[in-house]
Order: sequence, then C-alpha cells, then structure tokens
Amino acid sequence: MNKFILVTGGAGYIGSHTVVALEQQGFTSVIVDDFRNANPIVLEGLRHILGHDPILHRLDVCDQAGLTELFEQYAFEGVIHFAAYKAVGESVDKPLAYYRNNLLGLINILALIAQFQVPNFVFSSSCTVYGEPVGAKEVSELTPKQLPESPYGYTKWMGEQIIADFHKSSPALKLMNLRYFNPVGAHQSARIGEFPIGKPNNLLPFVTQTAIGKQAQLTVFGNDYPTRDGSCIRDYIHVMDLAEAHVAALSFLANQKSGLLEAVNIGTGAGTSVLEIVNAFERITGLTLPYVIGPRRAGDVIEIYANATKGKEMLGWKARLSIEDAIKDAWAWENHLATL
Ligand code: UFG
Repeated sequence: MNKFILVTGGAGYIGSHTVVALEQQGFTSVIVDDFRNANPIVLEGLRHILGHDPILHRLDVCDQAGLTELFEQYAFEGVIHFAAYKAVGESVDKPLAYYRNNLLGLINILALIAQFQVPNFVFSSSCTVYGEPVGAKEVSELTPKQLPESPYGYTKWMGEQIIADFHKSSPALKLMNLRYFNPVGAHQSARIGEFPIGKPNNLLPFVTQTAIGKQAQLTVFGNDYPTRDGSCIRDYIHVMDLAEAHVAALSFLANQKSGLLEAVNIGTGAGTSVLEIVNAFERITGLTLPYVIGPRRAGDVIEIYANATKGKEMLGWKARLSIEDAIKDAWAWENHLATL
C-alpha cells in the first residue's frame, strides 16, 4: 500500500531532494507547489532520478479549499511543510507577503492535519531562531531562542510558536521542527539543485555562478569579524543529508505511540568560514575565483554551528557528506544548468 506523504514546496530546492530521499525509503510523495519560486525543470530532473513522473498538484498552500480536496483524496501518513518564502533581504521589503504566505500556509496545513488526523508533521524551521549565539557558537536545541533580525526569521520563530500552541490543542499529533543550518550542494546526478531566481543571496550559488561567468565577481561580506580568518562562519550541510533527515524524522514520528513536539538541529556540527569555502572551491575545481572583500552585510550572524547530537540520538541520523562533496555537486549542477 502506498505511504503518501504530502510535500508542500516539493518542487523547491530542499523539497525536491526530499522527494528523492522519500522515494528511496518507500514513501510516495504528493507534491504541492505553485511554482512561484520553483522552476519546472526540476520536474525533468525528478523524472530522470525517480524513473517516473512525481505526483504533483499545482496549488498555493494559502488555498484552503484546494488543500482540503487533496486531504480528501489521499490518506496522508505525514506532511512535510516546506512551502514558504525564504529570502531574508526581500522579507524586509515585503513583510506582509512573508507573513501572509508563510504563516497562513502553515495555519492552513495545521488545521487540515487536525481535521483529517494526519499523525505526523515536519516543519522547515531554521537556525535563524537562535539569532547571534551569546557565548558558545555551537548551539543545541536547548540554547535559548532569540528574537530574529528579519520578517523572514520571525515567520520561522512564529511558526514554531504556532506549532507549540497547536500541539497543546492537538496533543495526539506527532510534530517536529527541523532547524536547518545552511543547505548547500545538489543531488549527485546533477539533475536537481538550487535554482536562485535573480541574483543569488546565498553564498555557494553565488560562488558557482561567478565561476561559470554569470556573475562578475564574488563579494566576501566582511573580513574583520572576530573569527579565525575574519569572515563569518556557518554550518554548511549537504542538501541530500538534509533531505534524508526528513525521512529519518518521519520514520521516528511514525514509531512513536503518543503525540509529541520536538525540535532537532540539522547540521554537520562543524563550522566553515566564507574564505574557507572560497579556498575549497578553488582547490576542488582548479579554478581561480574572482572575489573582493566588501563591507559587512547587515544582519549577518558572525558565527554559528550546530550541536548535532540530538539528531543522531533521536533520529539515528547524521550528516555523511562533506563540504567538498557539496561543492563538487553544486559545481556539477551549475555546469548542467549551462547545458540547458
Ligand atoms: N556571503 C558572502 N557573499 C555573498 C553571499 C554570502 O560573503 O555573496 C556570506 C554571508 O555574509 C554569510 C555566509 O556567506 O557570512 C552565508 O550567507 P548565506 O546568505 O548563504 O546564508 P545565511 O547564513 O545568511 O542565511 C541562511 C539562510 C537563511 C537563514 C539563515 C539563518 O539562507 O534562510 O541562514 O542564519 F535564515
């Protein structure tokens, strides 16, 4: 019997890789995506990797009536809710669009899992809920949350709060917030990957686009931070490891006998600086990356990386791919895009 999992935002960057990981473990994804922030090319990639067309419903997660029909059609075992806006800078310019889309989408999904008693729910949260760590740069799930810097960050922070209150009202449901660190890389086939719309905000797509000539040069945002080389430090996690964390989370939830709400960090446990990424890219590809040191970017956290112990102990999951793997795969994906 099919084990249907609703994957909202399943045509997006993390969503599409999770669809692949779910299929490998015997789940059937039902993708909901309206492609406002995804590229239909991903469907070609998924077809190539899966060997068949994915199940897809072109729907906005704010469309409650459309979603209700879907919940009537499939007996979902679980929901993974990715669909959301995710650009920090854009969220400052368009706060209402961010709050409407990210919070209304979440509220709609939660109302439906309660109505249809879908037992397992995984939410795309972010390490942004920790803000700038005070003291230790390694954060665990017990590290106190801090108020975010941007409306985007608030949508994740408030999303977790909404889920916490929802949990009290629907205690039989099994709910998990996955707090992602910095997803990078692409599927090893290079058929799916990150698809920045316009100029990339994130570091690795900017690096690969610079190397291939789509961008003139990379600007490293600041080299005067109190870190080992002066540039900011993040925990970069391969997107396939991140995808597999979702499958581990769903499997864990499915095995629980009673309702719960947990938050789990999804990172590698190690930090890498911006300049270390640049150097690793040059070493791996043999290319020289044109870059300049620019001013600090407003709102940047200086240094943060995951304590990844809970993921290992609770979910039996840990990252198995390296930053080198991620760079190789991101570069292969950029080169694949150049052939289209
Ligand atoms: N960076 C550059 N040059 C660039 C792009 C980025 O130097 O052109 C630097 C940034 O200053 C930062 C690092 O690379 O030090 C990583 O930046 P990203 O934009 O790739 O990632 P962030 O850590 O800023 O943001 C990510 C997610 C957000 C999430 C946030 C939580 O993209 O969704 O982590 O901390 F909110």
